[in-house]
Amino acid sequence: MRQTSQISKLTSVSASLAASLFLAMTGFSGVVSAADPAPAAAPMAEAATKPVVPGKPKVDPAAGEALYSNGDASRGVTACITCHGPKGQSAIATWPKLSAQHAAYTAKQLKNFKEGTRANPIMMGMAAALTDQDMNNIAAYLVSQPVSQGVAQNKDTIALGQSIYRGGIAAKGVPACAACHGPTGAGIPSQYPRMGGQWADYNTAQLLAFREGTRKNSTQMTTIATKLSDQEMKAVADYMAGLH
Ligand code: HEC
Ligand code: HEC
Repeated sequence: MRQTSQISKLTSVSASLAASLFLAMTGFSGVVSAADPAPAAAPMAEAATKPVVPGKPKVDPAAGEALYSNGDASRGVTACITCHGPKGQSAIATWPKLSAQHAAYTAKQLKNFKEGTRANPIMMGMAAALTDQDMNNIAAYLVSQPVSQGVAQNKDTIALGQSIYRGGIAAKGVPACAACHGPTGAGIPSQYPRMGGQWADYNTAQLLAFREGTRKNSTQMTTIATKLSDQEMKAVADYMAGLH
């Protein structure tokens, strides 16, 4: 009983926190500062959820959702939803799907864009405005969104894509993708990203970026991508789009 009432209190606290953040981001910044959200709410939230690591700031998915959806003009943060879509389910392959992705992976990518080990001009600009806390908050919001499914498009390469994904290419020393990204493409938290349902063109572009060195945030993936031909990349990326 006690627990239930605490949970409902907590829920209303995060709702009001989200509302005040929203207000702060939509022009009432003179009244409520986004950088200092609803101080009155903090002690109660703190009482209800003990910090996992003492001294470390807690992750706040509601703040992450607000930032994802509205951005924060006062700090130069663009709304992520513009490109990545509602709930992280983007509409076109230029912009990757982010829904249900492991939080640690998402936060790592944002850090990597900011420090430049993943060199993409658009996302380097986006990530530059984010603090570590923002990154963790947004990642915590995204991992709780529903998986977005996709379909394999190319009948002619499905067999090749499937054999690479499940078995690798022994002759070239390419390991099975499934070993790290999981038999259904769900990945393995927290290191190995979810793949199932991701846009094929996006994943092909990433494999090329690993091979060409514009994305140098994973020696494992650089080694693997260096051994794949363009045709093999396309085939396995298309197969992964349909995995679920
Ligand atoms: C103008 C469009 C645009 C906006 C706005 C945008 N992104 Fe992106 N995002 C991209 C593109 C394009 C990529 C692919 C970059 C690449 O090829 O490496 C990307 C990639 C990412 C990735 C890597 C996904 C993966 O699977 O590795 C993450 C995480 C991400 N964005 C988060 C965000 C967040 C958080 C925001 C808001 C603060 C944001 N993006 C705003 C266009 C955008
Ligand atoms: C030994 C483990 C391992 C294996 C095997 C592996 N991967 Fe990965 N892969 C990773 C890791 C780790 C990352 C995340 C790197 C990072 O932190 O940016 C990743 C990331 C990726 C990404 C980028 C995803 C995104 O959202 O941007 C693609 C695409 C990918 N892998 C494809 C493949 C394919 C195709 C295969 C099989 C040929 C494969 N991987 C095999 C470990 C592995």
